[in-house]
Amino acid sequence: MKIHYVLIMSFGCLSTSISLADSPAVTRLLGEYAAQGANNPDVQEGKLLWLKTFKGDESFPERSCTSCHTNILKQAGKHIKTKKIIDPMAPSVNPERLCSAQKIEKWFKRNCKWTLGRECTTSEKANLLAYIEHQ
Ligand code: HEC
Repeated sequence: MKIHYVLIMSFGCLSTSISLADSPAVTRLLGEYAAQGANNPDVQEGKLLWLKTFKGDESFPERSCTSCHTNILKQAGKHIKTKKIIDPMAPSVNPERLCSAQKIEKWFKRNCKWTLGRECTTSEKANLLAYIEHQ
């Protein structure tokens, strides 16, 4: 029983893959972004965007990905509006991350709109994905 649990914890996305680095969802999305011209994902650029502050409105004048996820992806975040705890983003400590292309795209869309005031470009998404994946 214990061994079974440890295995699941060590290999994220177990139902579709046994290796974190090769999450099929990430591979698929990076392939789609590359086909649209974003074929050189840059981890450092992803980090810079993650940390960058954007102008919001009166209720939340300063917005960034860290507003809810913090700048330490291995730690839990806290939703700036609802104050709900958000599980860590780093796949190395949270194997449930980056397992579903649909979930990633849904949250990219919603969170980029809220944070940047617009949707992220494919190259921004590729950089962000490359950054998050390596945390
Ligand atoms: C206002 C709060 C908030 C901000 C700001 C925010 N997020 Fe999120 N994010 C969430 C919530 C809530 C979820 C879904 C809950 C969960 O998965 O734990 C989520 C989930 C995600 C996921 C899904 C990951 C997965 O596979 O489970 C990604 C990717 C993501 N966010 C990226 C970003 C990026 C990139 C930014 C900055 C552009 C950002 N988020 C800013 C609240 C936020």
